[in-house]
Amino acid sequence: MTHRIYLVGAGIIARSHAAAIKGLPAADSIQLFVADPNAATLNTFAKQFPAARTFSDAERMLAEEAADDDIVVIATPPSTHRALACAALESGRHVLCEKPLAMDREEARAMLAVARQRGRLLGCCSVRYFGWSPFEETRRLLEEGALGSIYHVRFTFVEQRNRPGIEYQPETLWFLDCSKSGGGTLMDRAPYEFSMLNALFQPTRVEVLNAWLVDPVTELHLPEGVINDVEQHAGATLRYHLRDEAAFIMHYERASATHSTEQADIEISGLKGALRWDWPQRRARNLLTHSYDHAGQAETKTITFPVYYQGSIPFLNKPLHYFYQRVNGQDSPAVVNEQALFNFSCVRAIYDCASTGQPQSVVFERE
Ligand SMILES: NC(=O)c1ccc[n+]([C@@H]2O[C@H](COP(=O)([O-])OP(=O)(O)OC[C@H]3O[C@@H](n4cnc5c(N)ncnc54)[C@H](O)[C@@H]3O)[C@@H](O)[C@H]2O)c1
Repeated sequence: MTHRIYLVGAGIIARSHAAAIKGLPAADSIQLFVADPNAATLNTFAKQFPAARTFSDAERMLAEEAADDDIVVIATPPSTHRALACAALESGRHVLCEKPLAMDREEARAMLAVARQRGRLLGCCSVRYFGWSPFEETRRLLEEGALGSIYHVRFTFVEQRNRPGIEYQPETLWFLDCSKSGGGTLMDRAPYEFSMLNALFQPTRVEVLNAWLVDPVTELHLPEGVINDVEQHAGATLRYHLRDEAAFIMHYERASATHSTEQADIEISGLKGALRWDWPQRRARNLLTHSYDHAGQAETKTITFPVYYQGSIPFLNKPLHYFYQRVNGQDSPAVVNEQALFNFSCVRAIYDCASTGQPQSVVFERE
């Protein structure tokens, strides 16, 4: 069983991971280590988690010999993920990396190559919606074949103002700088969404047929010198290829700033039935509707479900809990290795399609 957890980065999300340790088995015997070059951030962390051993750099923290089940969590801005994750894997430890996994597909591939070479797991923290009841109900109906062949999926999560670095976590300005974040609303939120969509449909290949990225104009009062060059509204048309040679088209749209109407839902259309459910946002009605034909008449069943943060494992704890289970040989929905690379590549392929104007193809590659 894992007895040592190392956090690289002591910022906002690192504190959630540290708090999540309390819910792990034998939590009292888990030693927590944390490294951050920012002394003030490290200090704030140490006040909240006084038992943690603190370091000003990750290399020193990971210098001691690795145990087989040590876990390192990378909780730093995306531009640092590759170097820090590779160093942690090289130290002989399993690595759970914050989303987005990397800056681009090349970096993510390089990280997986080191994980394979060292025989360690590379996980991604993109699993917070797994286990949520509409997701599980959808999975159940898909597995039962209740919807028949799927021919269209529409995913929409359009918020008028919820930009990381502006309305959400306004003190964290690196979110707005593409050289540090790798992108805007897509890099920030799409990793969760594609982890969920890919877990539901388990595609063998995803094509991005066309894509667009924009940053709608709004009045802003950012501190002088702050770089703000990321997209806040994006959309793509994708073709999902499934294991049984079937395929469907997906229309995907998300925004953290837009002048369009707010909307947040997912609709899955199959030849025998359709499902629609609210994606979590402020005004979500938390409804899942299942529509189908009954003796020639349209029928609809409606289920009300609990909000996504209620459940046996709090949603912020899921990444560490699921990864811990996987590292310790238990069944777990953790997203690791080839699946982590594939999910992230679907997100990056949207950028690559938008910037080149060329369709992109992402193939699920088993080792
Ligand atoms: N804040 C959230 O709600 C949230 C939620 C989920 C995921 N994430 C993801 O978590 C990651 C971190 O986000 P955050 O909001 O915690 O950012 P943050 O700015 O609050 O914290 C990042 C910390 O990393 C430290 N850092 C930078 N380089 C480092 C290095 N080389 N070694 C050690 N520490 C280093 C910084 O000093 C900073 O304290 C990002 O990938 C983000 O997308 C954030």
